Amino acid sequence: MNMTRVIVALDFSNGQQALELVGKLQPGSCRLKIGKELFTREGPALVRFLGGQGYDVFLDLKYHDIPNTVAHACAAAAALDVWMINVHTSGGGRMMRAAREALDGAEGRRPLLIGVTVLTSMNRDDLAEVGLDTDPEEQVLRLARLAQASGLDGVVCSPREASRLRAELGSDFLLVTPGVRPRGASKDDQSRVATPVDAVRDGADYLVIGRPITQAPDPAAALEQINRDLS
Ligand code: C5P
Repeated sequence: MNMTRVIVALDFSNGQQALELVGKLQPGSCRLKIGKELFTREGPALVRFLGGQGYDVFLDLKYHDIPNTVAHACAAAAALDVWMINVHTSGGGRMMRAAREALDGAEGRRPLLIGVTVLTSMNRDDLAEVGLDTDPEEQVLRLARLAQASGLDGVVCSPREASRLRAELGSDFLLVTPGVRPRGASKDDQSRVATPVDAVRDGADYLVIGRPITQAPDPAAALEQINRDLS
């Protein structure tokens, strides 16, 4: 069984670049995240191919629509035999329950179902602009609680939110954190970052890491160093 906590973000604009990187890695040492750009360019074929190579794939498409539509999209994702998928928690409890029920009824292994709470790109003013006069952290907690009550397996959160969410939501709820940087690595465009070890110590179960691995001169060595630090 794959025990690694590292999910490598395949933020590439085409499948060839993604496959070049993946060719340097091993399925036992990481999982892979395919997001909207790569999926829109390469489609289910790439997802199936990487799954066939033995990789656990996190299909990061952040579904957000009426319950019936999201439920069918989740079932379609499950048919790709992916390991993890996600939905926007702001779609509401009915939408999340419909997603969970669709996965429970789907054939094959059930993907983990993760919620996106408040996008980390949104600050208090952005929330006010869409009619939410609330502190982003409180909104994150509110949505994470709703996700848990609606049958989701966990949420995506910033490493800075992890310890509070872990304390509030208990040990059975998965926390998936981007914004992770090994000590000394470039922050790129991330403003608040944590090291892999700190993120896990604060309660993260899985770490989404892109550029520190994908843009490293030796991606396999960068990944191995992170796995070593974590063990
Ligand atoms: O290259 P880097 O490690 O910054 O990549 C982080 C990945 O996590 C990217 O795919 C990015 O879109 C995603 N992500 C993020 N912050 C969030 C949610 C997702 O960086 N709040």
